Amino acid sequence: MQVTLKIFRFNPETDKKPSYKTYQVEAQPTDRVLDLLEYIKSTIDGTLSFRRSCAHGICGSDAMRINGRNRLACKALVKDLGNRITVEPLLGMRVLKDMIVDMEPFFENYRQVMPYFINDEPPPARERLQSIEERERFDDTTKCILCAACTTSCPSFWANEKYVGPAAIVNAHRFIFDSRDRAGKERLDILNGQFGVYRCHTIFNCTDACPREIQVTKAIGEVKAAIATGKLD
Ligand code: SF4
Ligand code: F3S
Ligand code: FES
Repeated sequence: MQVTLKIFRFNPETDKKPSYKTYQVEAQPTDRVLDLLEYIKSTIDGTLSFRRSCAHGICGSDAMRINGRNRLACKALVKDLGNRITVEPLLGMRVLKDMIVDMEPFFENYRQVMPYFINDEPPPARERLQSIEERERFDDTTKCILCAACTTSCPSFWANEKYVGPAAIVNAHRFIFDSRDRAGKERLDILNGQFGVYRCHTIFNCTDACPREIQVTKAIGEVKAAIATGKLD
């Protein structure tokens, strides 16, 4: 089938403003948008810029807006999109070139919530044990691949980029509710701050956008409840 791709193009070093360029390519229904972008880059226009690495939905580097919705280009199939496909960078981030956006503010928000295991108690002789139920408590939020599709689809983040955003809260949730971690209360204090969870107005765009099908809004609600009750279980 013939597919027409309308692709956002912007090189701040040479262009006064962004524009869209249109490319016609021959595609199979089972091709991914990433395959088409790779084809255009290798045969039509080598200056086309986008991030990608794994090509299998794991590294999180190729999140972009495809037909108006945040998706991973390596998981977006032509047969689900039709023969006219628009590709744009994530919203709310500074464009460095074409689909490449400046991820540093996103990772700065992520680092704020201390997204790593903290426990200064002496380790036991073997591993730190955890029951199946305790592990299930945060299972969903372990699946995050830091693609930023959630945060960059959130109107509260568009309104104020200092809002830590759903991705940071998901990664805080992963440790707050880990029975082996000891810094849950500190993370809740951070998320109770001016740019924390109460910037979330339960709009659900984040949940719709997540390519890992994480229940993002539910996780945010659980963090809000823990702040309100002071309970981590
Ligand atoms: Fe991406 Fe989902 Fe993680 Fe958000 S929660 S960064 S959408 S994987
Ligand atoms: Fe934004 Fe998701 Fe909350 S879209 S407002 S973080 S539910
Ligand atoms: Fe790694 Fe798409 S290229 S998630």
